[in-house]
Amino acid sequence: MNEKKLEKLITDGVITDLHLYDEVGSTNDMAREFAKNRIMKGDKSWVNELFIAELQSSGKGRMGRDWDSPAGTGIWMSLATRLKLSGDRMPGVTLLSALCVARVICSAALQMGIQNIDVKIKWPNDIVVNKKKICGILTELVSDPEGGGYVITGIGINTNTRYFPNDIVDKATSLFNESGVEWEREGLVAAIINMFSQYLKRYEMEQSLDFILQDYNSMLISLGEEVVIVDDGERREETYISRGIDNTGALLVEDSLGEVQRIISGEVSVRGILGYV
Ligand code: BTN
Repeated sequence: MNEKKLEKLITDGVITDLHLYDEVGSTNDMAREFAKNRIMKGDKSWVNELFIAELQSSGKGRMGRDWDSPAGTGIWMSLATRLKLSGDRMPGVTLLSALCVARVICSAALQMGIQNIDVKIKWPNDIVVNKKKICGILTELVSDPEGGGYVITGIGINTNTRYFPNDIVDKATSLFNESGVEWEREGLVAAIINMFSQYLKRYEMEQSLDFILQDYNSMLISLGEEVVIVDDGERREETYISRGIDNTGALLVEDSLGEVQRIISGEVSVRGILGYV
């Protein structure tokens, strides 16, 4: 990734420090170590520190899965931000980042004149293009015993990747594979970070997702449709209708009796009745 180009595109003052690596284990681990060190030193100043790698040798996904992060073709980045949010507001950060990624991909596609891509969010934080996953987000919290802490937002975007391992080829794709053209990674990174930083500030101030509710729900896959809930690998027998998120980031689902339940992100996954999406 071109550092000069990135620095030019990222809005002044949004990032306190940019760390670019050829290879790391996981950018989330780098960001977490950074946060822990700051906490140990008692440093409480605001930071927005960005870690980006060309290749991750042990990229991490949600629920203990691996995240395939080949060299030079994707965006593998983690943002460490010092935030004043109560613990129950943390899942909201993940939803904010998902919306930023989805919106940035839509705007970039528009600018590039690409029409054949349908960008959606699969709650809570997968970005899906043409019904296959192109982006996953792993959010981690490093708490400061003296209050507050750091939220680490790890974003992986299959950008110009052409080939996927056999076990994920049916459900994973890249922006290149869906559009047939190369996407400039620096432009995407900068636009996501610029937008996400603004959204984080607003969320910290308002402590509510009200300001993105409509937009997030308009991009949500399966809204108003039948979904199944998988708790810790076990699929519930009952099916539900997805009614979109509330202002805490929980997904509202309605059962056959018209009762609405709040699903909190974590070990639960929600799928359309036909499979991954
Ligand atoms: C998922 O969908 O399971 C989440 C995947 C998150 C991958 C990103 S890539 C950058 C950052 N570093 C990691 O090790 N994981 C996240």
